[in-house]
Amino acid sequence: MITLTPTLDKTSGQPLYLQLYAYIRDEIEAGAIPAGDKLPAILALSAHLKVSKNTVETAYQQLVAEGYAESRSRSGLYALPVEEPPHAPPSGKRKHPQGRRGTAAPPFSPSPDASGIAFDFRYGDVEMERFPMGAWRRCLLEALNDSNQRRVLDYGHPQGEEELRSEIAGYLYQSRGIPCTASQIVLCAGTQHSVSMMCQLIPLRGMRVALEDPGYNGVRTSLYGHGCELVHVPLDADGIQVDRLYDTDASAVYITPSHQFPLGMVLPIQRRNKLLQWANERNGLIIEDDYDSEFRYVGQPIPALKAMDHNDRVIYMGTLSKSFLPAARLSYIVLPEPIARSVREKLVLYSQPVSPLIQQAMLRFMREGFFGRHVRKMRRLYQLKHRALLAALQRHMGARIEIIGQKAGLHLLIDVKAGIPSAGLIDLASKVGIRVYSPAVQWSTPSQCPPSYIMLGFGGLNEYTIDEAVGRLAGAWFKDYDEVN
Ligand SMILES: Cc1ncc(COP(=O)(O)O)c(C=O)c1O
Repeated sequence: MITLTPTLDKTSGQPLYLQLYAYIRDEIEAGAIPAGDKLPAILALSAHLKVSKNTVETAYQQLVAEGYAESRSRSGLYALPVEEPPHAPPSGKRKHPQGRRGTAAPPFSPSPDASGIAFDFRYGDVEMERFPMGAWRRCLLEALNDSNQRRVLDYGHPQGEEELRSEIAGYLYQSRGIPCTASQIVLCAGTQHSVSMMCQLIPLRGMRVALEDPGYNGVRTSLYGHGCELVHVPLDADGIQVDRLYDTDASAVYITPSHQFPLGMVLPIQRRNKLLQWANERNGLIIEDDYDSEFRYVGQPIPALKAMDHNDRVIYMGTLSKSFLPAARLSYIVLPEPIARSVREKLVLYSQPVSPLIQQAMLRFMREGFFGRHVRKMRRLYQLKHRALLAALQRHMGARIEIIGQKAGLHLLIDVKAGIPSAGLIDLASKVGIRVYSPAVQWSTPSQCPPSYIMLGFGGLNEYTIDEAVGRLAGAWFKDYDEVN
């Protein structure tokens, strides 16, 4: 058993649990606590350090949430390996290409595709190279060989397999603070399909629905396609302006409170309370899209808005597209019980769209701990990519850009102060083998998107080549790039 001897300063103003968490985190990162070592029991450590049990427990929870340790049932907490990304340059070799930036290619520079693109900042791409393919293949095969063949070869339960829904309910409680049961969950085939089901079953169809502006175009399209009357509510620095929501007379609002899409802010607690108050006063529904909450790099994990919903006002939507794979086409809705009751009755007329085979494989992937490990590994990996991107933007572009929404998720926006509209920036980028995108489609009126905004998705890029990509972009966009850098 290891002994921990941090110096905890009760007068520093920093909570003790944070000091303890940071100490253990640093020890794990430095290898002083090797992977696989068991951390002291909560009671023993609190007695040893003369701090409350709660302090140790909260520090441990933070370590688990960030992937530094894992809890093994009836055994305790164990340090996890610090991920060393593969493809790292051999020691002694520089990590970043140097010299005349934008032209030097690192040894592992990706080769361009048929259209000459070597780096694609597409939003929606996730890490594929380090996806645990062996484990997933095994789960698929095990599902296929299920002794109860009907279970995987038939239509399946209209709500989705109950065991998988239970697994998801457990995950949501543990990771997002949402208390719910399997019977409140409906499995769907991606977020647009989740919205489509809500339009048909709740039904949102024909209702006036408010949306953040800018906001996720995929959901806007689905609501519009189902005949909802859309009203757009502007954002301020904190997110949706609830006062303006009152003016809309909407019956429901679609919102991304934990990571506004695409601008990236987190809806502060006061605004969340106001939103819930709006729903109570107006008998309104809140549709919370929690699409990428697993990946948060700054500050504490934020509970879902649904976790604060004591009056059955919030419908929660989640997806496995970011935390697992877009190809799973697996999303879910958590309904307040009164709504769930009526939805269950209607669902008998519908078939479940997600293949029972995929559902059974996913169940195994979650039950056997692969999913939890994958999310923790990806959280660290995306954090490395995120850090690499911020460092590269700072290094190559500095004050020539403003970074928007940089605390979480798999994308950020940049406001490029080159005096060139996004179409020109995209064109210049493609000439140096880089694909970047305008986020304008996320605005209800795309022309209202500042023309100098560019969206950078980094989920699919390799952390060691991000610097080269950003260097190339800087060379393409800023005429005096070499002189200044
Ligand atoms: C706001 C938002 N919600 C949900 C999703 C995921 O959609 P899906 O579940 O269809 O992959 C995305 C993007 O990928 C998104 O940006």
